[in-house]
Amino acid sequence: MSLLAPSILAADFSNLSQQIRAVELGSADLIHCDVMDGKFVPNITFGPQIISTVGGLTKLPLDVHLMIENPQNIIPDFIKAGANYVTVHQEAVVHLDRVLNSIKEMGAKAGVSINPSTPIETLLPILHLADLVLVMSVNPGFGGQSLIEYTLEKIRQLASIKKENKHQFLIEIDGGVNSSNIVKVNESGCDIIVAGTAVFNNNNITAATTELKNLII
Ligand code: DX5
Ligand code: ZN
Repeated sequence: MSLLAPSILAADFSNLSQQIRAVELGSADLIHCDVMDGKFVPNITFGPQIISTVGGLTKLPLDVHLMIENPQNIIPDFIKAGANYVTVHQEAVVHLDRVLNSIKEMGAKAGVSINPSTPIETLLPILHLADLVLVMSVNPGFGGQSLIEYTLEKIRQLASIKKENKHQFLIEIDGGVNSSNIVKVNESGCDIIVAGTAVFNNNNITAATTELKNLII
């Protein structure tokens, strides 16, 4: 059984409070917040202020995915704003050991993410430090893309490394998940599944959330 984390990237921000309520009613488990800087990825989204706003709208944990270069200086602001999980990209951080430790010292859960083309092996030395490992199943930057199949093999590989070494981190997958592929995604061995378009691009957001949840029980 996996947890479901709707990504508000695909939400209607003119109606954010109602949209978050709708996923809560569908038994969503976390709220996934995509932070983009226009450098690490071509798109720009939002910063700590919106995280704080979202935190005021829900009691669900905030799963903050930082797609930004050199995030270390701004991480404290995200934690003060209410981020429960702070996930940085391996490709965007020079001193990953230091950054993961500092996130934990500040009282949040430390996550690390890798792009589809980045091998799991690059994380081997720091897996014991991670509370969460986010495997991107699309190239980050935009919602609504198709899941890249070979990333499921990376999830299987990571799940096997986790089991062998008795690691505690959660495995998360992000990008292109929908009701047609979520069963297969769930079976690959992840613990948290992110879904943006499949949740929010619907007339009935609660029903879409419930449908996905029922497929991964
Ligand atoms: C992509 C983001 C994803 C995105 C997922 O860079 O990290 O979280 O919102 O959206 P869908 O589910 O539409 O692929
Ligand atoms: Zn994301």
